[in-house]
Amino acid sequence: MQRILITGATGQIGSELTLALRDIHGGEQVVASGRKHPPSPAISESGPFVYLDVTNGKALAEVVSRHNIDTIFHLASLLSATAEAHPQLAWHVNMGGLTNVLEVARQQSCAVFFPSSIAAFGPTTPKEHTPQDTLQQPTTIYGITKLSGELLCNYYFRRFGVDCRGVRYPGLISYVTKPGGGTTDYAVEIFHAALAGKPFHCFLKPGTRLDMMYMPDAIQAAISLMKADNRTLTHRNGYNISAMNFTPEELAAVIRRHIPDFTIEYNIDPLRQTIADSWPHSMDDSAARKEWGWQPNFTLDEMVTDMLTHLPKTMNKRGNK
Ligand code: SER
Repeated sequence: MQRILITGATGQIGSELTLALRDIHGGEQVVASGRKHPPSPAISESGPFVYLDVTNGKALAEVVSRHNIDTIFHLASLLSATAEAHPQLAWHVNMGGLTNVLEVARQQSCAVFFPSSIAAFGPTTPKEHTPQDTLQQPTTIYGITKLSGELLCNYYFRRFGVDCRGVRYPGLISYVTKPGGGTTDYAVEIFHAALAGKPFHCFLKPGTRLDMMYMPDAIQAAISLMKADNRTLTHRNGYNISAMNFTPEELAAVIRRHIPDFTIEYNIDPLRQTIADSWPHSMDDSAARKEWGWQPNFTLDEMVTDMLTHLPKTMNKRGNK
């Protein structure tokens, strides 16, 4: 990896992955891109940033060529709840963007990282210890784009030799950039309420167990997978990776150990509850462990302690928004 392009660099994963890759490769080597939101000072001051709409294949090809890119981390995507509200737009952005990225990668010899998700599974998938290779019948448009994306990446590898690799991320928790329009977002919003001294109104009901991961582990996963020896990878796209799983009340209980008067109430959003109910509780990530040495660092307790230590600074900067 010498010259890297990140799409969706102002998003939840991108805003941290960009800085991590710049630490490793140097700021100038990592071109951050986004469609709408201006980059944070941390991103705009540490290396190049370009405005780029991934659904515009010509503009994408031009950026890749101008910056001599050889690796694309393609993060631009609509998340599950937003996608469900705008299914046609979700297909256009998630699939149209990926198709453009893969074509540019084929024509300009780039490697590609593609983040899939727990959403690539559906209600017919085994929920506990969800195997790496299993029934995948997602019922959300977001999940359909993620599963199609995994298959398309595998196709481009087999058919054209494009070095595509990817993981199935669980819900991601971070104190840097808020997610937007996801079903697992409650696990970030809960910390904002707890630190603001407010009760948290959870949009998922008690007992909703989902796989989750702290952002430093998610960043490490993307970097390690792209560095891994090609010959050890048999799955390539859609590696299950997991770090912890919990229900809303279990997460609230751990937060309460630090903030004893914190309370959680339930105000269920039927759309996001249906989405969550269709996803696994705990993925089996042994293929990733075996093939490229995946190993998370943060447990639930460690993640909560770290979030409560760092999030107040982010909230102060944003004026508690
Ligand atoms: N965090 C995502 C979402 O909730 C799942 O990949 O949409």
